[in-house]
This record gives sequence, C-alpha cells and structure tokens, in this order.
Amino acid sequence: MRVGFVQNNPVFAEVGSNLSKVESLLAGNNADLMVLPELFSTGYHFLSREEAFTLGESIPEGPTTQTLIRICEQNRISIIAGIAERDGDRAYNSAVVIGPEGYLGKYRKTHLFDTEKKCFDPGDLPLRVFDIGSVRVGVMICFDWRFPEPARSLALAGADVVAHPSNLVLPHCPQAMITRCLENRVFAVTADRVGTEERIPGSPLRFIGQSQVVDPDGNILIRASETDEEIQIVDIDIEKARNKSINAHNDLFKDRRNDIYRTR
Ligand code: ACM
Repeated sequence: MRVGFVQNNPVFAEVGSNLSKVESLLAGNNADLMVLPELFSTGYHFLSREEAFTLGESIPEGPTTQTLIRICEQNRISIIAGIAERDGDRAYNSAVVIGPEGYLGKYRKTHLFDTEKKCFDPGDLPLRVFDIGSVRVGVMICFDWRFPEPARSLALAGADVVAHPSNLVLPHCPQAMITRCLENRVFAVTADRVGTEERIPGSPLRFIGQSQVVDPDGNILIRASETDEEIQIVDIDIEKARNKSINAHNDLFKDRRNDIYRTR
C-alpha cells in the first residue's frame, strides 16, 4: 500500500486558491491513501466563533469536501483531510474521509488546543476506524497526539494506520508520534503544514512542518522539511501492524493489565 502526505502552506481564508494548490501538489502522484493537514483549505488561526461559522462548511455538501471527492474519483485514491465544519449552530475542527467511490465519513477533533476552544465545539463523535480497501484507517487530529488514549483507542478498534492531520506549533509531536506507534504497533501518517500566520499583529504562529510516516517499529519512513511545501509517498506493508507481538513472550495487547491500570 502506498501512503503519503501533502505538506502545504495555506493563506488564511483563501479557500479556492488553497484547494487549487493542493490539487496541483497531488497531480501525477500515485498513492492509495493521502493525508492532508488540519484545516488545510482555510488556514489555522481562527480568531472567533463567527469566523468558524463563516468559513466552516457542511460535510459533505461544502466546496472543500466536494473538491476532494472529485480528486479522489479522478485519481482513484483515498484522502483524509482536516477541514472547518459548520453544522447548524455548531462549529467543529473536523477531518473528512473520502475514498475513490466517494465520501465515507468524518471525525471531529476531540482535544481542542488553546484558543481553538473559543472558536470550535469539542468533538462529539467516537474515535473511528474506516475500511479503506483492505486497510483499516483510524483518524485523530493534531493535539489529540498529546493524549495517549486516542491512538490507543484507534489501535484497539483495529486501526492499521493512524491518519493524523495536523497544524503543529509545538516541537514535540514528530518525536512523540514514534512512541504512539511503538505503544500500539501501528503506522502513523502525520500531515503538517509550514509557514507562518500572523492574524494578531505581533503574535505570529509558526508551523513546524516535518510531516512524516512512522512504522510500527518506530522507524521514520519519510519525513518532510520544516519549511517547504511537499508531497511524499512511501510503500508500507500493512501486515506489520497486525502483529502486536514484540518478542516470544510479549504482546502489546494481550499483556495489558486492565486490572492494575487506573483508567478513570
Ligand atoms: C494543534 O492542535 N493544532 C496544535
């Protein structure tokens, strides 16, 4: 299976041109599954709920999802991408899951980061695994990485691959995702963005790039630069994620001690 990421540099609120840019980055590349960053078509730094309502789109009717559906049909690929969602009087930081035959579903970010809490409602959907061909793909969004539970929940639900649309501003996530992969013996595709947004003069947000694919042994198979728009794709052997044993005596799932752990 060929999986990869697009690392883009969207301009806030320029949805049409941000979408065209990503479409041209994707053109001519041959992959089964591509992950796009969090809020990839709007940009990241929403300042108010009103902005989230104005730029948020209904899923799957909105222009961002419809464009991705067309791209997936034309290129016979699957895409998982972060978008701003509006649903009635609610706004979510969401991700859509689309296959070559069309829209498959969505996820809404569970753990909102910092001022996202002023603009979006917290996710109210389960951490879910989608069947994409013969591969099971779980979805979490950016700051969800900072909690071990989302990746574990997805792995326990059968995920082979964790798709992880992101807009990273802190430095730790690329390394931390190696641990998430080791803990769960899953692949993880983190798609980040680059560039800077300075929506509040004097308070720039710089995004750290370093989109990557990590394997169940914690190897970084591909990692992008900190500064450039990029697309990278790698072949992965999904069977590696289906074997949770780490030696003759240890199995990551069977050895769990729910009788000892505190989970609440
Ligand atoms: C983040 O969750 N975008 C840092």
